[in-house]
Amino acid sequence: MTLLHWNPNLSIGIAEVDREHREFVDLVNRLHAELGPARTGPTAAAFVRRVQADVAAHFAHEEQAMRERGYEALAEHRASHVHLLEELGDALRELDAGLPLNDERFARWLSAWLADHFQLHDARFQRYPAR
Ligand SMILES: [Fe+2]
Ligand SMILES: [Fe+2]
Repeated sequence: MTLLHWNPNLSIGIAEVDREHREFVDLVNRLHAELGPARTGPTAAAFVRRVQADVAAHFAHEEQAMRERGYEALAEHRASHVHLLEELGDALRELDAGLPLNDERFARWLSAWLADHFQLHDARFQRYPAR
């Protein structure tokens, strides 16, 4: 089963950025398929931890580019990144407490966050003129 579906709402219309974001969606799907049906305990926690690590790496990369260009809305953008990482942290705490990962809800929430963040925040940075 595919967890996340790439759709036109996720595109910000800049080929290079779209490719990187698409790779992230593919990676989440690959991890999800590899982990199989277990959605509780250490397997699900490993899945969320991988997502968290990959997301954190992508964010660090983006924030570095923003610092280099003196991006004016870095703090605001960073707050959105921190919010996602906190949500993933909450999901991990729930898993550690023995609660099952609700796959469908997780996918819906992650898709909505990605669509929102890509279009609102990442697209805004891509339009930032200073080089
Ligand atoms: Fe991004
Ligand atoms: Fe971002």
